[in-house]
Amino acid sequence: MRILSIETSCDETGVSIVDCDLENEEYKFEALANNLLSQVKLHAEYGGVFPSLAKREHTKAMIPLLIKTLREAKLGENSDHSSRLKEAQKYLDREPEISDRLKEISAFNAETIDAVSVTVGPGLAPALWVGVNSAKALATLWDKPIIPVNHMHGHIFSGLFPQSEPYEAPTLSLLVSGGHTEILKIDEDLSMYTLGSTRDDAIGEAFDKAARLLELGYPGGPEISKLASLHREKFPEYKSELFPRPMKSDESLDVSYSGLKTALLYQLENNKEDRPLDKEQISREFEDAALDVIVAKVERALEDDAYRSLVAGGGVIANKELQRRLQDLSEKFSIPLHIPKPELTTDNALMIAVASYVLFKNKKISAIETEKISAQANLSANEFAL
Ligand code: KG4
Ligand code: ZN
Repeated sequence: MRILSIETSCDETGVSIVDCDLENEEYKFEALANNLLSQVKLHAEYGGVFPSLAKREHTKAMIPLLIKTLREAKLGENSDHSSRLKEAQKYLDREPEISDRLKEISAFNAETIDAVSVTVGPGLAPALWVGVNSAKALATLWDKPIIPVNHMHGHIFSGLFPQSEPYEAPTLSLLVSGGHTEILKIDEDLSMYTLGSTRDDAIGEAFDKAARLLELGYPGGPEISKLASLHREKFPEYKSELFPRPMKSDESLDVSYSGLKTALLYQLENNKEDRPLDKEQISREFEDAALDVIVAKVERALEDDAYRSLVAGGGVIANKELQRRLQDLSEKFSIPLHIPKPELTTDNALMIAVASYVLFKNKKISAIETEKISAQANLSANEFAL
C-alpha cells in the first residue's frame, strides 16, 4: 500500500510518500520521500504561532513541497489527470494559491498511490484546513480515498519508526508538545485510554512562556534546556527548589503548568532590583520543576498498572533531561522505552503516514469519502479521526 501523507496542524508543512506492507503480519514500511518546510523562524519574530500566518505559509508551501516529494519518490511524470482538475479545485476555494497551481501536479503518475492520509486534528483550524482541503483536491484529482489521521497518533507511532515490531502492549504513552500533555494507555488492539492530561497549559507551552519571560526567544524549550544543561554540567549536585511542583503528589495523573509560569514571573519581579537572576540557574530550576511533575505522573502510572513498554512523543521529547529520566523509569520497571529519532520529534508527515498505516492495518481507522472529511481542531488524543 502506497500512501501520500500531509501534515499542516501547526507551523510545519509536511508531505511524505511511504510504501507500507499490508500483506504480512509484521509492520514494514519504507519512506520513498519525506519533506518538511518549517515556519518556526517566521513565528519566532512574534514569539508564538499566529494561525493566519501559519495558514498563509502552508498555502505557499503546499504545491512546491508536493512536487518535490512526488519527484523524489520517482513516480514518473507522464500521466494526465487534468480531466478531473476542475472537480478537484472545487475543494480549494479558500486556498486560491494552491488551486491556481494544482495543474502542476496533474502529470505525476499517481496511479500507484493507494490513499492520501492527512492530519485532521488536533491543531490550529486555519492551518489544518489547508492540509485537509489539499488532501481532498488530490484525492479527487487522482480518484483515491482519504485516511484521516489524529496528529497525536502520529507522535505516538513515530517511536515505531523504523522498527518492524509493534511495541509490546499494553503500552504507556507520554505525549508532550506545545499543545498537549497527555498520558495514555494503549491496548494490544490499539484502543486508547486517556489516563491524565494538563488542566491548563501544555508542558511545551510552559517552556515557551517561561522563555519569553526570560527573553530567550521562541520556541523556548530548546533554549531553556540548553541553559539548564549547562548549569547541570557545572553543578550536578544542585537541588532545585525555587518553584512549586503543582499536582505532583495529587492522586490523579493530571498535571497543571500555569502556576509554574506565574511563579517564574514573581521570581523575576522580586529580583529586579537586587541582583539579576542567573539565566542558567533559573532555567535549571524551571526545567527540573516542569519535569519532576510529569515524570512523577509517568512513574505513578507505571506503578498503577502492568505495562510492557513505554513510548514517548511530541516536540518536548527532544529534551535530553526528560529522555534521561524516562530511561531511568524504563530500567526501574524493566520495560523498553521507545523514543522517535531526533528528526522525527517535531511535527512531520512521515509520522502521519506511519500512524495511518498502523491504524488502518488494525482496522482502527478507514479510508473514507472525500466529502465527509473535515478539520477537527479539538480532537482528543484517544479519539480516532472520522
Ligand atoms: O510537537 P511540536 O513540534 O509541536 C506541537 O506543539 O504540536 O512541539 C513543539 C514544542 C514547543 O513548545 C517547544 O518549545 C518544545 O516542543 N520543545 C522543547 C524542546 N524542544 C522542543 N521543550 C523542552 N525541551 C526541549 N529540548
Ligand atoms: Zn505535534
